Amino acid sequence: MHVRPDFAHHRQRLLERLGADEAVLLFGAPHPLRNGDSEFRYRPDSDVYWLTGWEQSDCAVFLRPGEAPFTLFVQPKDKERETWTGRRPGPEGARERFGADAAFPIEKVADELVRLLQGVRTLHYAFGRDHDNDLLLLGAIQRAQKAARKTFLDTPDGFIGPARLLHDLRLIKGPDEIAVMREAARITGEAHRAAMKEARPGRNEREIEALIEWTFRREGGNGPGYGTIVAGGPNACILHYIENKDVLLDGDLLLIDAGCEYELYTGDVTRTFPVGGKFTEPQRRVYEHVLAAQEASFAFARAGQPYRAMHDASVRRLTEGMIDLGLLQGPVDDRIADDSYRKYYMHGTGHWLGLDVHDAGAYVRGNTSRPLVAGNIVTVEPGLYIAPDDMDAPRELRGIGIRIEDDLLITDGEPENLTRDIPKTVSEIEAFCAR
Ligand code: GLY
Ligand code: MN
Ligand code: MN
Repeated sequence: MHVRPDFAHHRQRLLERLGADEAVLLFGAPHPLRNGDSEFRYRPDSDVYWLTGWEQSDCAVFLRPGEAPFTLFVQPKDKERETWTGRRPGPEGARERFGADAAFPIEKVADELVRLLQGVRTLHYAFGRDHDNDLLLLGAIQRAQKAARKTFLDTPDGFIGPARLLHDLRLIKGPDEIAVMREAARITGEAHRAAMKEARPGRNEREIEALIEWTFRREGGNGPGYGTIVAGGPNACILHYIENKDVLLDGDLLLIDAGCEYELYTGDVTRTFPVGGKFTEPQRRVYEHVLAAQEASFAFARAGQPYRAMHDASVRRLTEGMIDLGLLQGPVDDRIADDSYRKYYMHGTGHWLGLDVHDAGAYVRGNTSRPLVAGNIVTVEPGLYIAPDDMDAPRELRGIGIRIEDDLLITDGEPENLTRDIPKTVSEIEAFCAR
């Protein structure tokens, strides 16, 4: 079943929070070339998409509370261009299918802004992202100021980045977004299970990557929401290993970090399992510590807990594990205080998740970690990485890299693990691989 975000509801949530003399202006993301004159597949700006569902480049959105709050600037219909690069809804489609109260070709944006900015005192706009758009806006404001000498209307003299309002709204997912995230999680799970079935000694990492991304597309997703990581053996100790080109070896672990993007919302899941289907004893010992750390963090995935508590819980449990494994000498508190645990655990325990894999939204307000609220979606992803050339580590642990990552919906009670259906305990994984 196809689920769609409720873009009109997103606009309504934003407009409700704007004063009569406030407006929001966003420009679409640029469409970069891959090389020569061939293009990357276009990926819309997440803020623009969240508010409009518009998926084409060369666009701008203007929102202001009132009778006709939603203006969209888009690529005009153009028979010749459409033959080359695909169908365009045009301004008419923007009104009829995307609910715009007014729509214009993007070429008109400067002129129309002169009019739209009359009476606006505070503009929510991200200065510093795109020089050309900044200049276009400043020019329009200047012309609006001239016009205002006759009308005595306000023109913008206060500017607020979209992070203040828009990103705070994106942090709390509504029922529509939760449904979409469930679908992203479902497809992500299909792909991880397929990879677990297919991985075996002699397969190449790239074959597993292809299987994962084929599953994403087959199930209705856009593709991966970030660079798929298929890291056999010591490659797992490279956190963002995306080369995915080595042969998988018996006796090694395979770390897969892959998430499906669906309606531009992404899953983000990591599983680590034995290529040959059975953990060695040292691998199992490290694995159990990482799994216990994830459980320890889950206990703090509760509304009202500071965001940071999940990280602190994993750091403590992993550091205990490092001491147990002989990687560090205790006591635990000292090894946390002097940061020596960072040698084996050098990243955060998670992040907001949504349209962006590292989703918009501040983690800290003032100097304090933001409390979780129902509707947040977070990842929880502790890991342990023991470099193959770490001569201080016990020999049998060298080259082991393990991360376990799930996507959690914060609720008013227990968190809901959206990606729980992917084998995770040692016995679940070994049973699944044996099939
Ligand atoms: N795959 C990116 C991350 O886990 O943050
Ligand atoms: Mn992640
Ligand atoms: Mn990940």
